[in-house]
Amino acid sequence: MISFKNKKIVIVGASSGIGKAIASIVSVQGAIIYLVSRSKEKLLKVQEELPGESHVFSMDMLDDDSVNQTFAAIGSFDFLTFTAVADETKLMTPIKTMSNETAQRGMEKFWGTFNVARAASNYINKDGAMVFTSSMAIYRPSKNGASMMNAASAAVAVFSKALALEIAPVRINIVAPGVVATGVWTEDQKKGYKDWAAKTLPVGHLGSAEELANAYLSLLTNPYMTGSVVTVDGGLTLV
Ligand SMILES: NC(=O)c1ccc[n+]([C@@H]2O[C@H](COP(=O)([O-])OP(=O)(O)OC[C@H]3O[C@@H](n4cnc5c(N)ncnc54)[C@H](OP(=O)(O)O)[C@@H]3O)[C@@H](O)[C@H]2O)c1
Repeated sequence: MISFKNKKIVIVGASSGIGKAIASIVSVQGAIIYLVSRSKEKLLKVQEELPGESHVFSMDMLDDDSVNQTFAAIGSFDFLTFTAVADETKLMTPIKTMSNETAQRGMEKFWGTFNVARAASNYINKDGAMVFTSSMAIYRPSKNGASMMNAASAAVAVFSKALALEIAPVRINIVAPGVVATGVWTEDQKKGYKDWAAKTLPVGHLGSAEELANAYLSLLTNPYMTGSVVTVDGGLTLV
């Protein structure tokens, strides 16, 4: 397996949740980390806790100038993880009353993935790898107003698979998370999901950011994996 020692890793969505957990793990393993999200303040707090070398870049994934400038400033790199999303769960709306604006915001995750993948493709080393983020809901969509959120995740999965062919030998894989205790949920929602997971999921507990982070890192470092969608959902697709 490939080591992270002295490898450059760009983490888009590093200020919270899965991205923050990825940063903690690879910092201990000697990676050179580029922490990326909108909030410089939040990223500096994450940086304070990292033992190794890291650099902070404030970037809006929806602004292609901001994305292109960030990747030009970072230059060549080896690995990338992308977990950025904003207001995803707040935008859940029944189709009968969904506004155009809400529908378009529901696809932000896809457009962020597109902007980042386009810029990153120009700078990633040939033996590098990227992991983008879908959702287990592409296999089991929910009926609670998440139609656009689910569609964005499906778009990310197919787009990423196409890139795995187009920019090979760079490897591209996709993680499809289940319910995970991160910034997409409020503290009350996390409490509710904790009880639900204990009763419902085969693994008997709610997913943690660290458990997800390990799946992303495994995909980055396995030289025989590309174009795969890996579900990490505690067995939710089975129940
Ligand atoms: N958690 C779950 O239960 C769950 C379930 C299924 C799928 N997922 C998927 O997992 C991903 C979310 O990861 P997470 O759970 O770790 O979420 P999170 O804790 O909410 O983190 C989201 C990150 O995205 C950054 N971000 C938001 N808007 C941005 C923008 N315009 N440009 C750049 N960065 C931006 C945020 O930082 P700033 O505020 O600093 O920009 C933050 O670092 C999404 O793709 C989501 O669909 C999550």
